[in-house]
Amino acid sequence: MLFNLRLIGLALLHYMLLLEIAADKLEWEPPRKYTRQDRIPMLYVRGSHFDVGRNTGTVFASMIQEFVATYTPLQGYLDAYNTPEGKRIYDDALTITLKVYPQYVRELEGIAMGANVSFNTLFLIHLDDTLTQNIPKYYPDKGPVGCTSILVNQRPFQCLAHTEDALIETVDHFYVISAHVIPAEDEKGGLFEAREEIYEAVVYAGQLPGYASAHTYCEVVYSINTIFNSKNLVNRIPRVFITRALLSNRGDFDDIKRILECEGGGTADGFNVNLAFINPSVTGGVRVFFHIEVTPNPYEQKSNVSIHPFFPGENGLHINKLLYSDYPELQESGVKSSIIKTRRYHKLTKHNPIKNLADVIRVIGDRDYSEGSPIFRDSPKDFVNSIMLGIFDFITLSWIIWSNDPQTNNPILQLPLNFTDLINPPLTQLCTNPLKPWWPSDFF
Ligand SMILES: *[C@@H]1O[C@H](CO)[C@@H](O)[C@H](O)[C@H]1NC(C)=O
Repeated sequence: MLFNLRLIGLALLHYMLLLEIAADKLEWEPPRKYTRQDRIPMLYVRGSHFDVGRNTGTVFASMIQEFVATYTPLQGYLDAYNTPEGKRIYDDALTITLKVYPQYVRELEGIAMGANVSFNTLFLIHLDDTLTQNIPKYYPDKGPVGCTSILVNQRPFQCLAHTEDALIETVDHFYVISAHVIPAEDEKGGLFEAREEIYEAVVYAGQLPGYASAHTYCEVVYSINTIFNSKNLVNRIPRVFITRALLSNRGDFDDIKRILECEGGGTADGFNVNLAFINPSVTGGVRVFFHIEVTPNPYEQKSNVSIHPFFPGENGLHINKLLYSDYPELQESGVKSSIIKTRRYHKLTKHNPIKNLADVIRVIGDRDYSEGSPIFRDSPKDFVNSIMLGIFDFITLSWIIWSNDPQTNNPILQLPLNFTDLINPPLTQLCTNPLKPWWPSDFF
């Protein structure tokens, strides 16, 4: 009897504990892993594509595994992949990517192996909505990521400022890699030739570098904004592979345009590149910034590319909405928040245009949610967060990086844009020399 009472007592205690846990859950708190940290993990790495990938995967294995486990759109991609149409779309994308960029597929295999996650999972994340959009049953399943790029082309201050916005599970799931890639013999043979590369890039966990912001040995600085197209094409190249190739640019405009056009493949999805050359002699001795929009071409195996220059005295803003290209876009949160952010930008700069670093921080660090979305999103209740801010400063020639809002935090890192933090010189002539002028023959 006593024994039974004790049992009942224990059961009651257990029940009360459960109630207590349930009561705790009523008050929603961000899960511990979403608490923003103040850190920038950085890896310096050299080797073949596979080695650079594998080392990145090994060093950031736990971060990549955690990201894969919490990345909400992945289940939709896996469901789509497990249908015959989904499998075919995946296989076609992998086949064409292997034909154009075997070296970057190898690099992704290295990341998967190093991090002990499946290649299949990482390639699905790279395929993004191309898979789900082309299977009506599963459409739409947006993994909204956004970004903001502000170009400032004033005298005497010029910069490219860029925030990475991503699903909240991406907070603290990114790193910076400084890589020197020397392609191995078995990584050559693609339509796009394997090249020796030196670059520094912000990278989303488990992703190929190049789809966020970066600067390259041939003195090109760029950032990427996602475009939310409503018609991604099958049998084309996932956009992250094209921006990966952009890291290999030779520092001349024709080469950059050729990479983005991706003849023989073409992009499956849309994106925007904000770009500038560190050396103004490429652009006729004056600083010129560019908005470039890259959209799919349904008729030819290449991308459509629109280019818009910003000359001295002009500032530019690009978010996640097309400004110059005609291609159907989704009417969903990424595009809507772009409209709100654009409105905030105009409000903040109308009587007080951006002229210096403090002005950029004031505008891109805007955290006022009163109109729905500020420019820097860091509320733990917001499903999208700005995970970092990088400012490429063309005056001090440095890349200044924050992992938290720049109005109440100091930057955490300042990297030189001239690669004085690297010791090994390139083995080959990496950059076009003498520098060619920026305008491609058919620009005007
Ligand atoms: C890799 O992951 C698998 C499960 O997917 C696990 O069984 C194995 O132990 C892991 N290997 C290492 C070295 O962590």
